[in-house]
Amino acid sequence: MQPSNELVEDSNTSNNTHFNDILNSLVNRRSVLQGGAGMTAAMMFGSTGLLGCSSDDNTASNPEAPVTELKAPETINFTPVEHSMADQVIVPEDYQVQAFLPLGLPIVSGLQDWSDTTARAGESFEFRIGDNHDGLWFYGLKDGKLDNSVSDRGLLAINHEYVDTGRLNPLGDFTRPVAGLEGTIYANQKLSQDVRREVNCHGVCVVEVVRGADNQFTLVKDSRFNRRITSATVIELTGPAAGSDLMKTKFDPSGLTTQGINNQCGSGDSPWGTYLTVEENYAGVFARSDDSAVISTELNNARNRYGLRINSAGGYLWHTPPSEEASFTDEFARWDITAGATTSATEDYRNAFHTFGYITEIDPFDPDARAVKRTALGRFSHENCGYAPVVVGEPVVLYMGDDARGEYVYKFVSEATWSESDAGSGLAGGQKFLDAGTLYVAKFNADGRGEWIELTFGKNGLDASNTLYPFSSQADVCIFTRLAADSVGATKMDRPEWVNASPITGEVYLTLTNNSQRGRSAQPLDAANPRNYDADGNSSLDGNVNGHVIRWKEDGTGNAATTFQWDVYLFGSPFDNINANLSDLTAQNDLSSPDGLQFDSRGVLWIQTDDSAYRYRTNCMMLVALPGTVGDGSSLDVNGVTTYVGAKPSITKLARFLVGPIESEITGITFTPDLKTLFISIQHPGERGTRAGGFASHWPASQTDPSSTALPRSALAVITRKDGGVILGETS
Ligand code: FEO
Ligand code: CA
Ligand code: CA
Repeated sequence: MQPSNELVEDSNTSNNTHFNDILNSLVNRRSVLQGGAGMTAAMMFGSTGLLGCSSDDNTASNPEAPVTELKAPETINFTPVEHSMADQVIVPEDYQVQAFLPLGLPIVSGLQDWSDTTARAGESFEFRIGDNHDGLWFYGLKDGKLDNSVSDRGLLAINHEYVDTGRLNPLGDFTRPVAGLEGTIYANQKLSQDVRREVNCHGVCVVEVVRGADNQFTLVKDSRFNRRITSATVIELTGPAAGSDLMKTKFDPSGLTTQGINNQCGSGDSPWGTYLTVEENYAGVFARSDDSAVISTELNNARNRYGLRINSAGGYLWHTPPSEEASFTDEFARWDITAGATTSATEDYRNAFHTFGYITEIDPFDPDARAVKRTALGRFSHENCGYAPVVVGEPVVLYMGDDARGEYVYKFVSEATWSESDAGSGLAGGQKFLDAGTLYVAKFNADGRGEWIELTFGKNGLDASNTLYPFSSQADVCIFTRLAADSVGATKMDRPEWVNASPITGEVYLTLTNNSQRGRSAQPLDAANPRNYDADGNSSLDGNVNGHVIRWKEDGTGNAATTFQWDVYLFGSPFDNINANLSDLTAQNDLSSPDGLQFDSRGVLWIQTDDSAYRYRTNCMMLVALPGTVGDGSSLDVNGVTTYVGAKPSITKLARFLVGPIESEITGITFTPDLKTLFISIQHPGERGTRAGGFASHWPASQTDPSSTALPRSALAVITRKDGGVILGETS
């Protein structure tokens, strides 16, 4: 089940100036002076006022070589963690957990700390940790530069996927009905302060952190690198869609910038040392009246395909604060994409929707540089973006999934080729590798083979004669990528979540988290998505409830090939469900709804879950896998469909490493280069609770105080070995 504001739609039927400048401009332009919701300077900054910042050098440099001598263990070398329904992060005996960087924590001095019960100004959340931590990455920091050999000091970039509005806003998820507007997208109105808090709690956080002698990490408040990129920050647009007529808005009639990133789900680094964050369920923050008589039929269909149908008020009501409370023109109106009958595209926000749904690149080491949406990689509900090992003289290859039921898997192959001097090149690397290249979508064939179908304007029917959308340029393909993929016969998958390639073998692993619609007429069984079974024992079929992990090996050398071999690495299942347990999982390594997936630098695979189907026995979890290779298993008949399954993972090769607190999702994973510290996100602990009804979780406070009654908050869990050794390393 998805949290109410983590919308999963089904459609397949500022210049980031230094925070001191931002604060000053905020003070000047609106909040403290205008005092929208009774905010004072003390309320915003606290009684001490804003303190100064450190002044690390920021000159770009090449990273030093990463730590390379670390080897993957031959076998699982810890006692697997049992199922748990405790309100704590549980790890093996030799390991320990530190809760870190919870929602609302100020990243600069002078702000009041988070309060469970007292409202903090919405504007102040531009300088606080955001909500619902997700993908993240650690970058070693030395002399103000990226250094992949450094583990004791670094920058953490963290995604903040969505907000739990009722929990975030201490007065509750407050909306008020508006007389006379019943039945419209303005029927319910939200206060500007609450909207600003919510807008600012989305996006990305970059913070400097240091590891102490006790192996615990601390935040460097006021580091010049500390910043937030939110759903209000000005963002660059590059690639084929930048400047397209479909990207032009009242905010930027040139179509070269937009305002905000939204619903940052998975993430990772790039080979050149930047942060690649994604936009997933962004449709939920937009609203739309019935403008079908104003826009073309094709555009109307395209909006529907992206989950934004007419008369949708969206999940957040960000478009609704009354204009008298908005000190900026269009601060809120920009979330209403209704095309005006008497306005042009550069006089309203009909195209704002098209400026969301992209891979976004951030240089954590350049706090003055704007984030960049790289449109060449296509527009859909991006889950993450993982690159294949880079080879000198070869293109850079990246993989991406579109997380909705029956959506697709994509691959991008850069036009430019890799050279060693590209390491550490920052946004120049992104410009080189992400703005020009070829986008493909995957077709998984019944014989265990697969092919990448090119999504290039003028090829494969992607032109003006296309019946799904009259493509007139590569910009159109990049904006309406789903329609392009529909028309070339891509394989509808069981909700593609994280995808990453092994840094050792280049083989690619993808989680398919679950799909309740699999086996229905619109999504019949196929070899790569072969399951529709009775999960709850009532004799009716439930689709693919527990999900699976699929993997593939590209033909030839490198990862740029257009054909591949695939098999299923494992099928998720409770160990005791004979209908579902096709991989012979045991109580020590069973899982349901795999989601997060990341290789560490040794090629060890870490799999995380976001599950509701197995909650009757266990909270969500993270497993360690030492996978084999594509083709090491055999064919298997599943529900009358022949599929291909790898060697069953034994307990020596797959084991549960961690179980999270109550009603949380485990997501995002990154390591220090020395692999002595592991960071994960604990997202939405106690997600089913409310302020009125109470919460089943009180994490992170419950990690050290089981009797705590504190509000549950998303945060990181920092995991280290008690002896300070390497995670999964030889026991000292
Ligand atoms: Fe944000 Fe598809 O998980
Ligand atoms: Ca059933
Ligand atoms: Ca996810």
